Amino acid sequence: MRHAKLLRSTPFRLALTFGLAFVVAFFLAGLITYQMLDRGLARQLDEAVNETYSVVASTYAQNDVEDLVAAVNTYARLRSVDHSIFSLENAAGNRLAGNFAAPALALGLTTREASALGLAGQGVYRIRVGIVGDNRLVVGQSFTETEQLADILLVSLGWAAGFIVLTAVLGGFFLAARAQSRLDAVAQTMIDVSNGRLETRIPLRGNGDDIDVVSARINDALGRLSGLVESMRQVSSDIAHELKTPLNRLRMTLEGAADRNDRGQPIGAHIADALSESDQINATFDALLRISQIEAGARKTRFRPVDLTDLLASIAEIYGGVAEDAGQTLQLSTPDDASVSVTGDRDLLIQMFVNLIENAITHSPKGTSISVSLALETGAAEVFVSDNGPGIPFTEREKVFQRLYRLEKSRTSQGSGLGLSLVRAIADLHSVELLLKDNNPGLGVHMIFPRH
Ligand SMILES: Nc1ncnc2c1ncn2[C@@H]1O[C@H](COP(=O)(O)OP(=O)(O)OP(=O)(O)O)[C@@H](O)[C@H]1O
Ligand SMILES: [Mg+2]
Repeated sequence: MRHAKLLRSTPFRLALTFGLAFVVAFFLAGLITYQMLDRGLARQLDEAVNETYSVVASTYAQNDVEDLVAAVNTYARLRSVDHSIFSLENAAGNRLAGNFAAPALALGLTTREASALGLAGQGVYRIRVGIVGDNRLVVGQSFTETEQLADILLVSLGWAAGFIVLTAVLGGFFLAARAQSRLDAVAQTMIDVSNGRLETRIPLRGNGDDIDVVSARINDALGRLSGLVESMRQVSSDIAHELKTPLNRLRMTLEGAADRNDRGQPIGAHIADALSESDQINATFDALLRISQIEAGARKTRFRPVDLTDLLASIAEIYGGVAEDAGQTLQLSTPDDASVSVTGDRDLLIQMFVNLIENAITHSPKGTSISVSLALETGAAEVFVSDNGPGIPFTEREKVFQRLYRLEKSRTSQGSGLGLSLVRAIADLHSVELLLKDNNPGLGVHMIFPRH
């Protein structure tokens, strides 16, 4: 089972394919080497035959064949017929010396089989026939040595090819087994995660290889996913918890109204309270739905160029009055020379700035100065909304972005703790970097828009 899985694995198939490709390449290279060696050996044989012929022929002196006869006989004695053949005949066709009886052959270099030369055995000979004085000299050498060398080459090439295939198969198995065990770990992690163990991660080797890189990416994705699932869980329980109080209040108000009704007393005020309570509950649900909708990202299709200078001026005009009513001041500063524009959803951007300004107004006392400033820093639009109110302690600055989270001191004031969640969702949708800073005193919210 495990072996079958290994055989199907990508590394094993790759190793096998490369092994096969290598054998084909090796075979072609072997063929070329063999051809070249064969030709080289044939040339060498020709040279050897020519050389022996010349040495033997050079012993002939004018009108004296004796030395030639002696030389042929000496050579013929020294070599076996299997290796070298010699024959010397006079003009009348009588054999004077040698180790074989040469048949009629054309002058020059020829190749003949043993049988054609009247010799026993299967050998093939390279022969040089020439006339020395009046005599016919035949010198030949067998191809046996050449063939032996070529055979050695063929056998060693065969062994090498076998060795390569074996290495490829074993290497493939080894690589496949290694890769498989790591892929199994990835699969096991995914099974664990889908079974609800969200904290499980793929173990990393730390060597930065491709499987490690992919595993690290999957781990990142799992981290984000479990974060999301965790926050979904948190949000659901927070919503249930948070809405329990207003629903209980609504119930008590309605019970009070029913009591008074039984006693025949007027219930108008109770009904008005109940209506405002249900409006508040409705508003909370609306805000929650809006945040989910924005987080889903569908509104990106509505992105258009938005003139921030213009947009902030209109907001400041309206909220300047609201701040004044609360005994506070609101100031706007924008670059004089150029108008700053970004790409985004105009309504959502208004909502983001308004939420921040409303927070500054609601969560700060009388006499607070609120400032909104717009700047263009190296091509990126930046908006800074700040106040000199009580601010948000450092340890709470991440928590206030959670849905329904409110600081202890704000629990009694109007609001549902969704304003900053909405701000963050809108900022994320627009790829705006959102930073909460200490305004010493007060809160500073820094928004950095992406460069165009
Ligand atoms: N400018 C600020 N100064 C001081 N505290 C702030 C400021 N802005 C926000 N906060 C604190 O952060 C909490 C969360 O703010 P958020 O806007 O999410 O909710 P909210 O204002 O209480 O309610 P909502 O905005 O839904 O009406 C607030 O309850 C408040 O305690
Ligand atoms: Mg708010």
